[in-house]
Amino acid sequence: MYVVTGGGTGIGRAVALSLHHRGEAVLVAGRRRAPLDDVVARTGGAVTAVSCDLATPDGARTLAAQVAGRVDGLVHCAGGNPAIGTPEAATLDAEADLLRDTLDSNLTSAALAVSALSGHLAAGSAIVLFGSIAAEHGVGFYGPAKAAVSSYALGLAAALGPRGIRVNCISPGYIADTEFFAGTMTPEREEELRAATTLGRTGVPDDVVGLTEFLLSSRAQHVTGQNLHVDGGSHPTR
Ligand SMILES: NC(=O)c1ccc[n+]([C@@H]2O[C@H](COP(=O)([O-])OP(=O)(O)OC[C@H]3O[C@@H](n4cnc5c(N)ncnc54)[C@H](OP(=O)(O)O)[C@@H]3O)[C@@H](O)[C@H]2O)c1
Repeated sequence: MYVVTGGGTGIGRAVALSLHHRGEAVLVAGRRRAPLDDVVARTGGAVTAVSCDLATPDGARTLAAQVAGRVDGLVHCAGGNPAIGTPEAATLDAEADLLRDTLDSNLTSAALAVSALSGHLAAGSAIVLFGSIAAEHGVGFYGPAKAAVSSYALGLAAALGPRGIRVNCISPGYIADTEFFAGTMTPEREEELRAATTLGRTGVPDDVVGLTEFLLSSRAQHVTGQNLHVDGGSHPTR
């Protein structure tokens, strides 16, 4: 089976539905019940769902309790930027809370989800974590948190490689049609981000699905420890 965290919305939802259409068993996880239930309903109940806060050990245990047997792939889309749509931190306490929330949402959730499911992963299983182009630009606390996720993926690939488990990180650029920006995206900013791509187009969740499925598949059996960008060329690498 495949576990897709953050599978109720955006990129995770697109990955979960695509895996389902390929005939795979899929479990989606997120905190809010409603978006998860919508995915379950769209698949006639074939996709199962669990509501849990993966930034907490209890949430990770709740996820693991829904899993029986082998996990072929973990796609950890859960994450986000808690600073979006909230007032700027005005005190040291508020700043510390925001920093912890940002790390918890992205790095802690990845580490706890992986550890909770570790016993279900076996040779041939693959993990895909999500970084961001923000890691390259240093956006507030979110960029550093995503840099930490891609660094964590490298160490995890080394640790799990001897078990035949591959770990890669996908770092998207701006992807529209997600809940990431919590309704704050303006047409002007969207146009700036589109213009910053080499391809002159705005990414959508389906643009991330192909690479995710490739990294999960045996066709990527010699690909691990990589941080791959899906950003229309807005952050070229060599
Ligand atoms: N959209 C972009 O432009 C963009 C660019 C670069 C990177 N990314 C990254 O791509 C990944 C997918 O995001 P998206 O763009 O698809 O945005 P999204 O629609 O906001 O999806 C994020 C999902 O994560 C879930 N989630 C957040 N915190 C969680 C937690 N503690 N426990 C369990 N689930 C949690 C959310 O559901 P609940 O709120 O219900 O928990 C939501 O379904 C994220 O890691 C994001 O940082 C996005």
